[in-house]
Amino acid sequence: MAMKIIGTGAALPEKVLTNGDLEKIVDTTDQWIRERTGIVERRIADETTATSDLAADALVKACQQANVKPAELDAIIVATSTPDTIYPATACWVQKKLGLRGMVAFDVSAGCSGFLFALEIAVNLVRADARKRIGVIGAEVMSKVVNWKDRATCVLFGDGAGAAILAGSTGKAECGAESDPKQIQNPKSKIQNPFESGPLASNWGSDGNLAPLLYQPAGGTRVPFSEQVLHDMSHTVHMEGNAVFKHAVRTMGDAAVRAMKDAGIGDTQVKLVIPHQANMRIMEAVRVRVGYPKEKQFEIIQKYGNMSAATIPVALDEARRAGRIQDGDIILMTAFGTGFTWAASVWRW
Ligand code: ACO
Repeated sequence: MAMKIIGTGAALPEKVLTNGDLEKIVDTTDQWIRERTGIVERRIADETTATSDLAADALVKACQQANVKPAELDAIIVATSTPDTIYPATACWVQKKLGLRGMVAFDVSAGCSGFLFALEIAVNLVRADARKRIGVIGAEVMSKVVNWKDRATCVLFGDGAGAAILAGSTGKAECGAESDPKQIQNPKSKIQNPFESGPLASNWGSDGNLAPLLYQPAGGTRVPFSEQVLHDMSHTVHMEGNAVFKHAVRTMGDAAVRAMKDAGIGDTQVKLVIPHQANMRIMEAVRVRVGYPKEKQFEIIQKYGNMSAATIPVALDEARRAGRIQDGDIILMTAFGTGFTWAASVWRW
């Protein structure tokens, strides 16, 4: 079935925190951060801003581009690891902020893979009923869950939100000049109609056995909040950086390869790749593993750091605005996150 992302939007806090600013907070250097991560600066939410504020802002902008009123959406799905509250869902706080009611609103917790998990759920809601219009959001305020005394983690993250509106489409051919639909008429391809926009194939999964390598130990029911938690700062990000690095490269790369294989396409047909932006060295290693050229990789990590579930939708919005994605283009998105979770998705725009 044809479906289309008919609008995208992003919301980024105004405050910029540079590597130079971080040199004054922890024992680090601009050079170390640039060389090990590729990050130059990141955005930081102010005290009064919660995840739903950024999420709602991004959703409204995506709706404006899609020419859809937020009240006309049939579902709002927020992917986040930094919810406003443990309950209710951040998606419900988005409804409250925008004065919405009635449509289903819920969160997806899959770390940095969250936006692609949420998109996969939205795709299946539209497959079930092509009249559905779904707001899919990735939003994080990581700055409020990192330990600002831990140089190994606090330099990595940033805050932001991105949104996409997914809708059933008529499947009309609007192919870009560089995307010859005949190229994807491969006997192994699952694509019924090469003129249709929408997801061509995806690959997603999880391995909870690796959960302790990247998690927020306290503040839930395993270790409820207490004075000891505050003392230990165990309500902040705990990460085994080297292990995460290795798993991220292998898993993001393999998910991307499997999704492309299932779509029956090769990397030459992919116009743009939007990887989860965790670390430039991870992105580069995935790129080499999958085999696409550097110029196809869309990068925003330099200016925003790792925004977890928000990185892919913010990058999608910036790529679209920059004219890097045209109707008919094939794009590849791939992500890895806490869980561990992974997801890759190949789309005809
Ligand atoms: N500034 C200066 N030195 C630092 C910093 C810092 N900010 N952080 C760590 N160091 C030091 C360490 O203490 C260590 O010092 P030592 O040799 O005296 O013990 C040294 O740098 C090397 O530490 P490593 O951890 O081995 O450094 P590495 O090259 O592996 O880089 C990093 C660390 C950047 C965290 C890397 O492991 C990484 O990128 N991992 C992936 C983590 C990630 O991206 N997580 C995001 C969440 S998950 C996701 O989005 C998929």
